Amino acid sequence: MDSKLAFLVKLPVLPGSSLAGAPRSARSLGLCLTTRSGDVAYAAEKPVLLAGRNGGVQLRVPLGLGAWSFGDRFYWGSSSEEDNTDAVRESLRNGVTLIDTAEVYGTPPGRSEQLVGRIGRQVTEEVLANAGPDSPLPEINVATKYAPFPWRTAGLSLNLLGWLSRPQRRETVRRSVLGALRASMRRLGLENIDLYQQHWPAFVGENDEPIWDALAEAYHEGLIRCVGVSNFSPSRLLKCDTYLRQVHEVPLASNQVQWSLLHRDPETVRCLDATDDRTLCEICADRGIQILAYSPLAQGLLTGRYRKGRLPSGVRKRLAASLVERVDVLLSEMERIAAKRQVSLAAVALNYVITAGEMRAAGEKPTIAIPIPGAKNAWQAQQNAQALGWRLDLDEMTKLRRAADQVDAKLPSIPLARESNRRGL
Ligand SMILES: NC(=O)c1ccc[n+]([C@@H]2O[C@H](COP(=O)([O-])OP(=O)(O)OC[C@H]3O[C@@H](n4cnc5c(N)ncnc54)[C@H](OP(=O)(O)O)[C@@H]3O)[C@@H](O)[C@H]2O)c1
Repeated sequence: MDSKLAFLVKLPVLPGSSLAGAPRSARSLGLCLTTRSGDVAYAAEKPVLLAGRNGGVQLRVPLGLGAWSFGDRFYWGSSSEEDNTDAVRESLRNGVTLIDTAEVYGTPPGRSEQLVGRIGRQVTEEVLANAGPDSPLPEINVATKYAPFPWRTAGLSLNLLGWLSRPQRRETVRRSVLGALRASMRRLGLENIDLYQQHWPAFVGENDEPIWDALAEAYHEGLIRCVGVSNFSPSRLLKCDTYLRQVHEVPLASNQVQWSLLHRDPETVRCLDATDDRTLCEICADRGIQILAYSPLAQGLLTGRYRKGRLPSGVRKRLAASLVERVDVLLSEMERIAAKRQVSLAAVALNYVITAGEMRAAGEKPTIAIPIPGAKNAWQAQQNAQALGWRLDLDEMTKLRRAADQVDAKLPSIPLARESNRRGL
């Protein structure tokens, strides 16, 4: 199947919709033509591959859009559906087609997936309506996630009289993963998912293998195009990649982890295996696994928007208040580079991750990092897209790292250094 048709053919075409009867050929997204500042930048990027079925998913640029804040009133404070739609439109205009969501995002959980589906359909229809002949079709690549809550994976029998047997547990986890996947597909209004990820390791319970078996089943049934994981340590990632390949002949496409100038664990935390001390970056480069970098703007702290006396509202306020002043020295260095390069501070923060992902010893394969910043509106999406089409040079990278080393400020996250659960996975 032509990958450009992906989002279109997955969309249920509603009677009366402008998509009904639209020829699936020679329609234009008009990306390059309608892009304002970003067209040259986006054209300069090489496509990035997420390994998977039928050649996997090819992204136009090494940048995605995080949709955790879509429909979330608890942590992020609500942003309007209209603003979120503008963020998706602006992202697409800049070649950003990957949207990351999860079954647990939104208030109530699942709301983010509903919005991503609805907005994706609306934007696709608009693009088709304004399309000219002989141009590429629009494509939105949706990534979502399965949440391995302990009560889903631990293998405790429902009547609490004891533990399930191994085959019973496998079947329970299988039903849980496939049921959650189908529920996500319903909310998104999609017939298959481009990238389906295990949101975090199964810390409670025997191990992750039953989840990986179920992901492989979904892959072979054509329900998902690529399999990904999230918050996996280097050694757990190696085990997962080896298991999926050897047992199921499924490539592992990605590991989604926190990565920003304030949180450089993917570059520094090493595998604790006696025979392997590579970092996550090195393992991913060697195995062709993409790193989806979450919180690449340190939840807004690296955009320069928040300073002393100017803090985000709601739940984030306390955390930001404890960190904001410590980041000043880094922001000053970022501002110098942003001014010289004529880009936003957010673009410098995102470009750091992209460039760090590609910086390898001479002659080695590049690591590819795909930051997935959470833009809430068109302006933020446009500022973030300024990260495309250029790379920080070695001197700038060194100065940024030196400044970052002076900052003791981290967001909470599942530590990559945590290697194993009690059964040794
Ligand atoms: N796998 C996981 O466990 C996991 C964990 C966390 C996140 N994620 C994923 O990663 C995505 C991004 O991470 P994140 O949302 O935690 O943090 P982030 O991308 O570092 O920060 C996003 C927030 O920064 C602000 N912002 C974004 N662009 C901006 C710009 N250009 N200028 C000024 N402010 C800007 C917005 O918030 P305000 O306007 O309110 O300041 C936005 O919601 C999420 O949406 C989610 O898809 C995954």
